[in-house]
Amino acid sequence: MEATRPFSLDCPYPILSKAPCYNYFMLGLVGVSFSVKHGKSVKNVLNDVTFSVNDGELVVITGPNGSGKSTLAKIIAGLEVPTSGKILLNNEDITAKSCTDRARLGIAFSFQQPVTFKGLTVKDLLTIAATGNETILSGDTDNIDKLLLKVGLDPELYMDRELNASLSGGEQKRIEIASVIARNADFTIFDEPEAGIDIWSFSKLINVFKAMLKENPKRSIIIISHQERIMKLADRIFVMEKGKIVKQGSRDAVLSTMEIAK
Ligand SMILES: Nc1ncnc2c1ncn2[C@@H]1O[C@H](COP(=O)(O)OP(=O)(O)OP(=O)(O)O)[C@@H](O)[C@H]1O
Ligand SMILES: [Mg+2]
Repeated sequence: MEATRPFSLDCPYPILSKAPCYNYFMLGLVGVSFSVKHGKSVKNVLNDVTFSVNDGELVVITGPNGSGKSTLAKIIAGLEVPTSGKILLNNEDITAKSCTDRARLGIAFSFQQPVTFKGLTVKDLLTIAATGNETILSGDTDNIDKLLLKVGLDPELYMDRELNASLSGGEQKRIEIASVIARNADFTIFDEPEAGIDIWSFSKLINVFKAMLKENPKRSIIIISHQERIMKLADRIFVMEKGKIVKQGSRDAVLSTMEIAK
């Protein structure tokens, strides 16, 4: 990917500028570690994770269960606090910022396990999520309808449903994805968006990601996924194992090593 900002040698974090074109990046993690205490022992969930994601880039993070992918996503969104290390957004250190502040700065996060909100309808959620997104809020509910259609839900049937356990897992996941699209954020993280989504709707989901990038060429997206079809959308793929990024490179370079490993 070409850098979309002017080239400069003034990268304040030289560790992140080793790769070409990453003197300027939208998101940077520098030496991020996260440990939790289990009785007397300490578990290192993330261990010295360093990477950057450029403007307009789609990065897929993959790796075995328990390798730390969701924890990494939560740390970027501000839902967990790293034990050490820094998180940068547009060269600004946001490590100490709350998840609300980060949301205001343009980070949106779609949970692996969607959260339900009793008493709130689908329409309420999507309207709240779209706050500040004039494109969606102008023109009554038409645009909310379109959001639901994008994720394959019939607006007539779902708009007024309450966000509770009566929605199936796949429906909750689609509504969660629609709410993140509504946010129209510059930096979006999807944690296993394919989870619970049937194979027939999978192509639709792929089109959602393509459309998000096309709509705003400066938008960056991280997708955590185990799916090869999603990996094939990536500019770069990161592979995590035991809290570390053990491999990162262009889609083709990483996918070819995975094929060898099959
Ligand atoms: N607050 C916590 N307390 C104890 N253990 C934790 C905590 N947060 C994460 N872990 C552990 O850290 C490891 C990484 O969890 P994480 O959810 O990030 O994995 P993951 O790569 O997303 O896995 P999956 O593919 O199953 O979603 C797991 O072993 C998990 O149990
Ligand atoms: Mg996970």
